[in-house]
Amino acid sequence: MNSKRIFKTLCFGLAIVIINSCNTIQQSQITSPTGNIKVNVFTLPNGQAAYTVLYKNVLVLDTSLLGFEFTDAPELKKGLTIAKTKTQKFSETWEMPWGEQRFVENTYNELTVLFEEQKGLKRQLKAEFRVYDDGFGFRFHFPKQKNMEKVFIAEERTNFNLTGNHTCWWIPGDWDIYEHLINKTSFADIDALGKRKHLNLAQTYIPVNAVNTPLTMKTQDGLYLSFHEAALIDYSGITLEVDAENLQMRSNLVGSERNPYKVERQTPFNTPWRTVQIAEKAGDLVESRLILNLNEPNKLGDVSWIKPTKYVGIWWEMHLEKSSWDMASGRHGATTENTKHYIDFAAANGIGAVLVEGWNTGWENWVGSNREGIFDFVTPYPDYDLEEIVRYSNEKGVRMIMHHETSSAVTTYDQQLDTAYALMNHYGIDMVKTGYVGTIIPKGEYHHGQWMVNHYMRVLQMAAKNKVAVNSHEPIMATGLRRTYPNDVSREGLRGQEFNAWASDGGNPPHHLPTVAFTRMLAGPIDFTPGIFNIKLNPYKPNNQVNTTIAHQLALYVVIYSPLQMAADLPEYYEGHPAFQFIRDVGVDWEQTRVINGEIGEYITIARQERETLNWFLGSITNETARELVIKTDFLKPGITYMATIYADGIDAHWDKNPTSYKITSIEVNSESDLFLKLASGGGAAISLIAKED
Ligand code: NOJ
Ligand code: CA
Repeated sequence: MNSKRIFKTLCFGLAIVIINSCNTIQQSQITSPTGNIKVNVFTLPNGQAAYTVLYKNVLVLDTSLLGFEFTDAPELKKGLTIAKTKTQKFSETWEMPWGEQRFVENTYNELTVLFEEQKGLKRQLKAEFRVYDDGFGFRFHFPKQKNMEKVFIAEERTNFNLTGNHTCWWIPGDWDIYEHLINKTSFADIDALGKRKHLNLAQTYIPVNAVNTPLTMKTQDGLYLSFHEAALIDYSGITLEVDAENLQMRSNLVGSERNPYKVERQTPFNTPWRTVQIAEKAGDLVESRLILNLNEPNKLGDVSWIKPTKYVGIWWEMHLEKSSWDMASGRHGATTENTKHYIDFAAANGIGAVLVEGWNTGWENWVGSNREGIFDFVTPYPDYDLEEIVRYSNEKGVRMIMHHETSSAVTTYDQQLDTAYALMNHYGIDMVKTGYVGTIIPKGEYHHGQWMVNHYMRVLQMAAKNKVAVNSHEPIMATGLRRTYPNDVSREGLRGQEFNAWASDGGNPPHHLPTVAFTRMLAGPIDFTPGIFNIKLNPYKPNNQVNTTIAHQLALYVVIYSPLQMAADLPEYYEGHPAFQFIRDVGVDWEQTRVINGEIGEYITIARQERETLNWFLGSITNETARELVIKTDFLKPGITYMATIYADGIDAHWDKNPTSYKITSIEVNSESDLFLKLASGGGAAISLIAKED
């Protein structure tokens, strides 16, 4: 079922080129389909390319400069004229093979501006702006031309000139990892360099006062802005450098110590899209599909083999140090017997898949400087009978998830991609979790630079060829490529649950996930690994804990989107626990998504309708502040009665003092009901709304 409606028209009426005789500015303008967002693209008197953006006629980005610097050629910044402009309208509805919703509307107006150097090399550069009702994106196209064949970009000079000292939710512009706490400060108070000392990271490099994206802001007028990128292909990841004095951000691409340049390309080519989402309600940022829309349609054809699923795994027990990845410790987790135990548990509870970490040799030496050649991806430890595990899991109707920890010995992994994926193919294993802990080998490369961006893409393509879906940890940030490569199912790219098991800074605070929902989650699905019931982690980690209530953990299955959702705790904490019923029931693939309320870092409530059923699931989480919410269930199908089972915080629940206090109640509701939720400090509520058949 593919209801595709596309129209594409060339239209010369939308853009106007104004020649202003006083200061010889050439200007061209484009508005979003409803006219709310206006983008002006122009040249300054010195021939510098620039743009401004208005929302409902109020300036949201003041004159922001554009340009490029190269290592082997003069900069392409000044002395430009607008040689040509072109506009077009576009509208389609496309279907997500899996996702937060089935149908996505993609409607925008586009302005393409061709800049040309008046003198010298007379080089050409195109800027392509797509303006939607929920924001805009722009990218550069370097046409094929005589004076620009090989391009060595020293820096992309894309600016975002803010109109105020907005409140920002940011992580430092680390070139090697996104696993930082999310800070909230005014723009001028962003201090990424102050975050250089990090106790818990195996790799980190923050060269300048810059932030990673998505970067979300709230203006004094209450408008929400989020800056990110789309379709990051064969280019470096972007960070945004802070100019506190001028309230400006400028792009600072991730570099490499091996090359003087940050990006190497051959014309013709496109840069990734620079994206800005604009919303009056924080929740509208979460509902926006702008980043996905800026990516190319599915290139993999029939992807019905990609199946969203819940999973359990031999994972949390290592982070709790109950068992270990390696065998030499004598506490090896990935044994045949233990894996069968997890398979049995999955089969008994309708959990579709089992992840096993520590199954392959090499974990005795996986950290340190000598990581090249340590891991291979085909040799199991002697106490792990892969053949038997695959047979047993097939018998039980449970899928196995492969694990490839590369320890960032990237060349070792590259050299083995063939054999590693052939093995998966042989056993019919269709999902892999990859990992990139440690500094990149070859030395001098960073996780978010062009060399690694290309590596992550090679893996995705090799996986696609073998019908394997990829969930990558220590990844490159999501930029909507899952639209083009739907096997790019999930990733980490944030401080995940694991930090609660061992971080020496107290773990993730209660406001972490109410912040993540409006920041990191705008990029794409997150393998956060929710569902810890043994909140205080006794007896394994008496000095660590999860800083939420149980109901908050349950709500994460709805709030934090991923087509792969782990039930992360040890099976013994689920067995016989009444609240586990929610994890059994909750969907993983959605027909529609509604963000019901929310403020960044404070609280959020999301309702999602499961595909192929009329059932809805709702999750609500709060930060340290306890709160009461009234939820209108007007998203439910009218005329149908639903049985709502509410997994709420107990009357005395508190993320620290009483995190395991919960209560379960059931009531009948319909599309005209109100639900009253009482969330404890660090708490939440999870609700299953199951349509009753009459
Ligand atoms: C870091 C990953 O985020 C975690 O999930 C995994 O268990 C370890 N690396 C080991 O691969
Ligand atoms: Ca990690």
